[in-house]
This record gives sequence, C-alpha cells and structure tokens, in this order.
Amino acid sequence: MSMEGKICIITGANSGIGKATAIDLAKMNATIVMMCRSKERGEEAQKEIIELTGNKKVDLLLCDLSSQESIRKFVSEFKSKYQKLHILINNAGIMLSKRVISVDGFEMNFVVNYLASFLLTNLLLDVLKKSAPSRIINVSSAAHRMAKMDFDDLQSEKRKYRLFKIYGTSKLALMLFSYELSRRLEGTSVTVNTLHPGVVNTNLGQDQSSFSRGFAKLFFKKPEKGAETSIYLASSQEVEGITGKYFIKKQQKQSSEESYNEDYAKRLWELSTEMTRL
Ligand SMILES: NC(=O)c1ccc[n+]([C@@H]2O[C@H](COP(=O)([O-])OP(=O)(O)OC[C@H]3O[C@@H](n4cnc5c(N)ncnc54)[C@H](OP(=O)(O)O)[C@@H]3O)[C@@H](O)[C@H]2O)c1
Repeated sequence: MSMEGKICIITGANSGIGKATAIDLAKMNATIVMMCRSKERGEEAQKEIIELTGNKKVDLLLCDLSSQESIRKFVSEFKSKYQKLHILINNAGIMLSKRVISVDGFEMNFVVNYLASFLLTNLLLDVLKKSAPSRIINVSSAAHRMAKMDFDDLQSEKRKYRLFKIYGTSKLALMLFSYELSRRLEGTSVTVNTLHPGVVNTNLGQDQSSFSRGFAKLFFKKPEKGAETSIYLASSQEVEGITGKYFIKKQQKQSSEESYNEDYAKRLWELSTEMTRL
C-alpha cells in the first residue's frame, strides 16, 4: 500500500504506539509530521524512523498538548509549512497516578487525553476539509467503559482520585467528541473514527510501581501490534468513507452505551468550546 503524497500528523510519535504507527506509515511513503513535546526525544525517534524506513519525509514539530498556547503555535507552524493534511492521528496520551493541573487550569488527564484533541482537531478542520478525503483517528481506550460523565465535576475535583476512573473519563470524553464530530462533518468526506489499541507495553503509566511495569513487559502486547488498528484506519481502502465508528483489532465494535449519548456529546462540545475559547 502506498501513501505517497499523503500528509499525516501523529501526536506523541516519539514513543510506544505513536512511534510504531509513524514507522509503518513512513514505510508506506507518507509524509509524517511527528508532534512531540520533547526536542531531544523527538529528534532521537525521528532519526530512528528515517534510518529504519529510508523515508526522509519525516518532520518534527514541537508541541506540549497540555498548553493551549502551545497547540495554537503548533497549528500556525504546521499551516505555514504545509498546505494539506490528509490524516490526523490524535494518539498522545497520559495516565497520571496523581492529580496535576495544567497551565490553563484543568485536570491533566482530561486535558492531554481529550481537550487537546478537541482544540487541535478543530483548529485543523479547515485544512482537513480542503484536503478531503481525509481521516481523523482518535486513539481511545476500552477504559472508557469504566467511566461515567459527571458534568458537575468534569475536572474531578469533588471525587477521590481513582486512576482508571479519571483516565476512563478522559477517554469517554474523547469518544463522545469523536461521534459528535463525525455527525458535524457529514457530507464533507472527512471521516472520524476511534479505537482501542489493546493492552500494550509502552511508556504509558510509567509513574506506576516497578511491579506493574515488570508485569506489562511480560504480558502486554508489543507497540507494533498495538499500532495495527491506527495504521489500518489511516491507510486501508476498506474504511474509506466509514465514519463515527469504534474499532478494536481492525474490527468495528460497540462502545459503551454512554458514549453514544448525543445530549452529553453536545453539552461536552459546548463546554469544551468555552474551555478552549474557540
Ligand atoms: N498502552 C496501552 O495499553 C494503551 C491502552 C489503551 C489506550 N492507549 C492509548 O494509546 C495512546 C498512546 O499511548 P502509548 O501506550 O503509546 O504510551 P506512551 O509510550 O507513553 O506514548 C505516549 C506519547 O504521548 C506523548 N505525550 C504525553 N503527554 C504529552 C503532552 N503533554 N504533549 C505532547 N505529547 C505528549 C508522549 O511524549 P513523551 O515521550 O515526551 O512523554 C508519548 O510520545 C494513548 O492515547 C493511550 O491512552 C494505550
């Protein structure tokens, strides 16, 4: 499969699933724009991807997704360098074991796993539409099933900090956003799909105990396997025109009942617009 001429942004492309996704799409000759927060880690991965694939069209643009100012700067830098965008993979994610507040004043898992994708995607919609057919791929998680939307406590200030509930809520928000965006993009040839990559041994949750990390190393999937569904959604003809769906192992699946709640999706969209001053 050739992706020659296709321009792809992959967030969090220096590690884990994002890096494995970048490697495979680079092998297909796509132009890769790696969005990374660390210059050092980004450059190291960029060098590795170019050496491994022989594809020199692997660019690196820096952005810290926890800062709205940084996202806006990234978008203007991207637009000054590129006229088109065919694939946006919102892959970057975190799982923090304690409560942290972003520079903009919001809970950090919610910010990096959801709100940043909301802002980034909306700021890139003009160029995605201009480049259609184009695809947005949101890397979610089966952990969205462990969560419920609590609009009175979106920043998880009132409840006890329970890692999987807080992480799950951020991924549920990403699912609600994905489905709402697919409805808003009807008729544009810009598709939006979301996925669970499986349980993968990456740097995610590196602030967990060394026992959990050891367990992950032994029993979890390798990043190359975890990246398969992202790569499939980015490159396969089989999903041309398919939108508003959730995938696991390259198959369409049902997500949680709550993730299809259109009232929640609209409410979250409005609140997110206010939080990002869009
Ligand atoms: N691993 C799993 O089992 C699993 C399961 C379900 C879903 N997922 C999802 O898969 C996605 C990829 O995660 P992974 O498992 O590959 O983890 P990973 O190895 O930790 O990769 C996460 C990437 O996101 C980047 N990132 C984190 N915070 C950022 C920020 N503020 N600004 C910009 N980039 C940032 C990281 O950059 P640094 O290297 O600089 O930290 C890294 O490149 C995530 O959305 C995760 O929630 C993973």
